[in-house]
Amino acid sequence: MRKQLTVGSLLPTRAAIQTASPTPVSMEPVPQTQVPTTPFSPVPARQWEMEKKQVQVKQREQSFSIPFAPCQTLLEAALAKGQPISYKCQEGYCGKCSVQVTSGDEWLDKPTLQEQTKLGKNLAAGYRLACQSRFRSTKRR
Ligand code: FES
Repeated sequence: MRKQLTVGSLLPTRAAIQTASPTPVSMEPVPQTQVPTTPFSPVPARQWEMEKKQVQVKQREQSFSIPFAPCQTLLEAALAKGQPISYKCQEGYCGKCSVQVTSGDEWLDKPTLQEQTKLGKNLAAGYRLACQSRFRSTKRR
């Protein structure tokens, strides 16, 4: 009598599967030089993004890091974070809040007319009035 072929009869037997030996795995510790480095930073991505969005300013030999605060003035954002920037009128007339932006000016709007009037050629050197310069709502491209 001829053996009848079925789908199951064509599959390898359980014994054949169990006898196949797995690839040997070395139990030796991997030297440190071979451990792949990950592109991940210990600082969470969101926090890292927020830290990147800040404006660095100098005022009378003091440096301040002011975190990005869309549509707020530099002065408002600085005071909210406890940064003691000097100021007086808050209307762009006295110039007491004058700061020199050392980095992050891409996060600020263009100088206002009051800043242009008060600061003149110092605008080109990066000076701004903290009470008048506002953070942009998005990064300038
Ligand atoms: S506080 Fe007077 S100009 Fe800004």
